[in-house]
Amino acid sequence: MTGTKVMAVIKANGYGHGVLAVAKAVTEAGADWCGVARMEEALNLRDAGIASEIMVLGYTPPVLVPDAVQNNIHVAIYDPQMARAYAAYARKASKRLKAHLKVETGMGRLGMALDLVPDFLSKYAKNEYIDINGIFTHFARADEPDVDLTDLQLSRFKSLLDKLQKAGLRPDMIHAANSAAVLNYPETYFDMVRPGIALFGLDPSPDFKLPASFRPTITWKARLTSVRTLPPDHGVSYGSIYVTSGKERIGVIPVGYGDGFRRVSGQQVLVHGNIVNVVGRVCMDQCMLQLDNVPEASPGDEVVLFGEQGGQEITVGDLAARWGTINYEVVCGLADRLPRLYFET
Ligand SMILES: Cc1ncc(COP(=O)(O)O)c(C=O)c1O
Repeated sequence: MTGTKVMAVIKANGYGHGVLAVAKAVTEAGADWCGVARMEEALNLRDAGIASEIMVLGYTPPVLVPDAVQNNIHVAIYDPQMARAYAAYARKASKRLKAHLKVETGMGRLGMALDLVPDFLSKYAKNEYIDINGIFTHFARADEPDVDLTDLQLSRFKSLLDKLQKAGLRPDMIHAANSAAVLNYPETYFDMVRPGIALFGLDPSPDFKLPASFRPTITWKARLTSVRTLPPDHGVSYGSIYVTSGKERIGVIPVGYGDGFRRVSGQQVLVHGNIVNVVGRVCMDQCMLQLDNVPEASPGDEVVLFGEQGGQEITVGDLAARWGTINYEVVCGLADRLPRLYFET
């Protein structure tokens, strides 16, 4: 879509999808870079044989700089003091650290103040131990209908780049766009884009949906492990907050808050293409379903927590809305212990 290089942002276990399979898929599909949040994530990719460029977008403790240089991993730099500590560690490792400078344009998170950037880059222009070959920023509100902050961030970034260009200090690689910016702001593409959520076919926000040709990559399924008819007046799960009003068919699935399925009331799942209520408290490893409307349900049958079944769909966004959060948190919260099965389509 963009005609630029792509850094596939696959932090937090590939947005919960399982980072190694995701890294393999995105690099095979043409991503030149993988972006992660922490050095441990980057080293995990290298250990697994991922050969693309890898960048740690968040903070890297100086003590991990030798790991970065030995494994050809780029770090983000946003503070002069931090750069000094990095240079000292790279010197000990006798290698030059590759870094991209992260600048503050309006996100209010990590980033060097714009007025410090020219001096900083000129100081490090020929540094023996740090090679600052990229510069980037991050948008705070590119997923909202209001364009003002994104426009302001972009104009701040561009005027910095102009200044750097004139001074002969402009790094080679410039990047800014997350998924929402890829969809809505072509002027933010520069040399590389950094999509995360869109890679997984999930909308950057309820305001900014992906084009219809994108489909979610992930479905969350379980199987019924028990189906019983309980007598009237029978408590279900801890605290007996649900009590059967008559004879009720109650099913069990082996999914609970230990898997990332929140311990809140009002949860729903799909069984044989029907929307079914989760009743009683969600336990750590299990929860119970009210199956009166699905007489054919029996142990071993498939249950969908999000995804499609029999023409019905519960989206990751539906679950997020139910939990009062965003789709990112739903998938990032999928526990490591969940078995992940991958299918080529
Ligand atoms: C610095 C940076 N770039 C890119 C992304 C990808 O964002 P998105 O998943 O919204 O595309 C993130 C994710 O939070 C990020 O922190």
